[in-house]
Amino acid sequence: MKTPDHQTWNPTSWQTRPAQQQPVYRDSVALADAVAKLSRLPPIVVSWEVERLREELAAAQRGERFLLQGGDCAESFDDCESGTITKRLKILLQMSLVLTHGLKKPVIRVGRMGGQYAKPRSADTETRDGVTLPSYRGDIVNRGEFTPEAREPDPQLLLRGYERAALTINFVRALIDGGFADLHHPEYWDLGFVGHSPFKAKYERIVASVADGLEFFETISAKEVHQALRAEFYASHEALVLHYEQAQTRFIPRQNRWYNLSTHMPWIGMRTAQLDGAHVEYCRGIANPVGVKIGAAMDAAWLQRLVTTLNPQNIPGKLAFIHRYGAKDIESALPKAIQAVRATGHSVLWICDPMHGNTETSQSGLKTRRFENILRELEFASSIHQSLGSHLGGVHVELTGEDVTECTGGARGLADLDLQRAYKSSVDPRLNYEQSLELSLMLSERLRAPRRGE
Ligand code: PEP
Ligand code: CO
Repeated sequence: MKTPDHQTWNPTSWQTRPAQQQPVYRDSVALADAVAKLSRLPPIVVSWEVERLREELAAAQRGERFLLQGGDCAESFDDCESGTITKRLKILLQMSLVLTHGLKKPVIRVGRMGGQYAKPRSADTETRDGVTLPSYRGDIVNRGEFTPEAREPDPQLLLRGYERAALTINFVRALIDGGFADLHHPEYWDLGFVGHSPFKAKYERIVASVADGLEFFETISAKEVHQALRAEFYASHEALVLHYEQAQTRFIPRQNRWYNLSTHMPWIGMRTAQLDGAHVEYCRGIANPVGVKIGAAMDAAWLQRLVTTLNPQNIPGKLAFIHRYGAKDIESALPKAIQAVRATGHSVLWICDPMHGNTETSQSGLKTRRFENILRELEFASSIHQSLGSHLGGVHVELTGEDVTECTGGARGLADLDLQRAYKSSVDPRLNYEQSLELSLMLSERLRAPRRGE
């Protein structure tokens, strides 16, 4: 792979382009100081991990693997504690086990974690009782309280975010290395507080069947395969605050390329995917796999330019389109997007985000998403890709390992009135533990590989 056009690209070249959704830092000296400090700190991930993920994503693009990307809409600094991280990891691992079993292919696990601290906002400012202050843009930018001090973007928070990201990834690595994802440890696979789930039996049958298969294999081969099962876990976040991303961008001489080493797989949010914008400029120069959120307002020409700008050499696994149309628009929008990409002669990895196009306001005024719409969008995605000879290579979901009540529906039939009970998100509504597991069970049935003889 050749380096991108480094005559015109460098980690700061985004600063010459219009940059949406950036905080306005009033103290430019403090900003420069924080960016300089961040640039000297060691990276959170390393380039060979990034390359391995790109190869795995290339396999997903060919239909040989499946990507599960999930986590909070926004991580908060307060959530950087062991219980929350462990629960998030546990649900992602359990979902990936169910998906591997149903799809009969390896699942690539990518957390929206270890850096998902910034959010795009619909307005730059917020007004309450005649007072106007900067909007809260996430813990890496400013603080949520409605006071001038709290809302002032603080460059020091870039460093605090980096530290939390590093602590999170360090803990996740230790858990995985210590055998957290090892099937010989049934306690990691139990259902905990959702042990009375309507689909408990189904889930337990899957775990037992995988464990039996494992035992059988180990018996006849006299080898332990759990090393192979201790699959990798990768990190991703929206590359939104570009000073943060820039500071963690390093040239790796051995690879002769630039990498964003704050995460394995950054993505560009839908609100910052302008072709001439700073985010596309920044992402075109890094060797990481990059995702772009795409929605119905993006026409064929826009998608095609994204493909040729972000992956001019058509490197497999390099570019993912994460479509988030909503159950009501996917039937009209997705086929056009598939045709548009095909017309470029290049390929992308197609991922369905069934969350962001299905957000609505409940009667009580809380933001919610209906489980049935999430599932319906995934079903459409799967059948549309199949009917056009394309592959749905993965799913991108917002979830938590906690027992929250933010999305309605699911086997428990959460209703609008239940939302107040445990609504914790300050941003988008997430699937709770039980709904997440249910989604993976349903998805693995819908997408499941035909059994022999079928
Ligand atoms: C998100 O993923 O939380 C998000 C803001 O999504 P989108 O860019 O698709 O709106
Ligand atoms: Co979100």
